[in-house]
Amino acid sequence: MTAPVLVTGAAGFIGHATAHRLLDRGERVIGVDIVNDYYDVALKEARLATFADRDGFDFHRIDIADADAVAALVRDHRIRRVVHLAAQAGVRYSLENPFAYERSNLAGHLSVMEACRHAPGFAHLVYASSSSVYGDRPMGGAGFSEDEAATDPVSLYAATKRACELMSQSYARLYGFPQTGLRFFTVYGPWGRPDMAYFGFTQKIMRGEPIEVYGEGRMARDFTYIDDIVDGIVGALDHPPAPGGHRVLNIGDSHSVGLMEMIETLEHAIGREAVKVMRPMQPGDVTATYADISRLNALTGYKPKVMLAEGLARFADWYHDFYRINARG
Ligand SMILES: NC(=O)c1ccc[n+]([C@@H]2O[C@H](COP(=O)([O-])OP(=O)(O)OC[C@H]3O[C@@H](n4cnc5c(N)ncnc54)[C@H](O)[C@@H]3O)[C@@H](O)[C@H]2O)c1
Repeated sequence: MTAPVLVTGAAGFIGHATAHRLLDRGERVIGVDIVNDYYDVALKEARLATFADRDGFDFHRIDIADADAVAALVRDHRIRRVVHLAAQAGVRYSLENPFAYERSNLAGHLSVMEACRHAPGFAHLVYASSSSVYGDRPMGGAGFSEDEAATDPVSLYAATKRACELMSQSYARLYGFPQTGLRFFTVYGPWGRPDMAYFGFTQKIMRGEPIEVYGEGRMARDFTYIDDIVDGIVGALDHPPAPGGHRVLNIGDSHSVGLMEMIETLEHAIGREAVKVMRPMQPGDVTATYADISRLNALTGYKPKVMLAEGLARFADWYHDFYRINARG
């Protein structure tokens, strides 16, 4: 029997969806998460509850910064493939609680790499990085390319994600196990994260409360639907680099959408206009993101399928059902 895949951050937005996809194709999955209270714990618990009737899923509530616990898990379950998504996410919170990023992102990444390097015949570590490593850019430029140096992060969050990539590069050279870092671009969709703009906007628009539009609306993001992201993660997992290889790949939708256009699309999906309060840009935020996805496409055939209007409509439906708020019409 093939060894299970370890998915860290399995109670999180992307980890939950990735674990389900792996189970769908008949893999066994060991899920790990500390289920912290960075955002609504009830949402994380609800995501975990969706695994209750799934065969082949085994959950462990551990802190990935605990190197011994991670090593024991990898050893005991003879793990050969890891999708490492647990992290302290969020740009703005990194100004408030920088040490959470040190522990979950730096110590956590190191624990995972250490466990992988001691696993005999280890096959592939796929881990989450972020478009934030590219730093700030004006709107309307070319797609971000993996060839860029990415040496000017504007938040501690971005700096820790870039640091993880460099740590992985050193471990690839030192110990030779295959690794892929995926630079995610603004992932959205059902079961998403309440700290992200589209989520908070939905809540407020449905309740008829005003929304705060940062950067006076002059920002743009490459919004990527959750199912497309999972396609890319699983595709990358199935195409490891040769032993000793480490690469970073963009994984986005490859369309940069202005914040005001996103809000309009959301208003349409919800069927109600937003009351908008314009606010200046916040420290740590970047102006625009836009992914060049040609490398991941060439490697795995990755092609995002879900357009923003469709994805936000699916999100609004999920939100409505999940929170039972009847605010339409
Ligand atoms: N969602 C996005 O748009 C986006 C964009 C760029 C990068 N990323 C990265 O993708 C990954 C997944 O993001 P997400 O959106 O699913 O975030 P998420 O916050 O929903 O999931 C992360 C999970 O990791 C867990 N976690 C945090 N610290 C931990 C620790 N020390 N030990 C064990 N578990 C811990 C949290 O409890 C959470 O459930 C993260 O690495 C994030 O930085 C996400």
